[in-house]
Amino acid sequence: MNTRYRRAVLAGNWKMNLLCGDVKPYAQRLRELAERRARREVLVCVPFPLIPAAVRAFRGSHIAVGAQDVSEEPKGARTGEVSAAQLRDAGVKYVIVGHSERRQYHGETDSVVNRKLTAVHGEGMTPILCVGETLEQRELGIQGELVTMQVKAALSGLPEELLRRTIIAYEPIWAIGTGRTASPEQAQEMCALIRSVLRQLYGARAARAVPVLYGGSMNADNAEALLRQPDVDGGLVGGASLDPEKFSRIIAAADRLETPGTV
Ligand code: PGA
Repeated sequence: MNTRYRRAVLAGNWKMNLLCGDVKPYAQRLRELAERRARREVLVCVPFPLIPAAVRAFRGSHIAVGAQDVSEEPKGARTGEVSAAQLRDAGVKYVIVGHSERRQYHGETDSVVNRKLTAVHGEGMTPILCVGETLEQRELGIQGELVTMQVKAALSGLPEELLRRTIIAYEPIWAIGTGRTASPEQAQEMCALIRSVLRQLYGARAARAVPVLYGGSMNADNAEALLRQPDVDGGLVGGASLDPEKFSRIIAAADRLETPGTV
């Protein structure tokens, strides 16, 4: 983390877990455990039907509600899809786009991800753009090229002022839900690479303002070592975010690493 230049972001991703009745007790506990600290953002990305309950339960706190996906179309004949305007209207502030599970199980291409990112910005919400390589790609040593391409394709046409309202998450697919975390050095190398791509596209000032998160089996035990890396600005946390006690210990790790007097 480098809180001189950018905020730390801790984002939970519930994926397809929990029910409406779980939301209120979860929110009460997280609010007790993760009291507001000035310079970090905490949010939970919940399944669509849980959004209204989550917005109600976190109202008046500094914990925001995110969605896990969005349609690339603004409205109309898209059975089963949810538009960016509907998410904004429901009180959503952040939207995950291009999660590897969407790319893998729903055939999302880089150009679809680009359109989703644009749709999220169009409604004034913050996209969390996910990129990351498979194990096979890492074994071939092409993770750098692959992630560079994903970032460039997803950000295509995005003006600098909107880049500054974008979050990127590096999530190696081999580390997601597997209990196999990237080493702090591997996470740093890839997050720094992503920032160098941003620098190339938008210049140094814009690049250093964008939070780049790590995701993939982050937990209370490994969070601090990952967050200590200068280009790892937070976490996108799946499994460990389902329990407010565990999630709050990750948030506490970020709080311990904050540089005073910044952002
Ligand atoms: P995990 O998921 O923390 O359960 O590995 C992370 C993610 O996919 O966002």
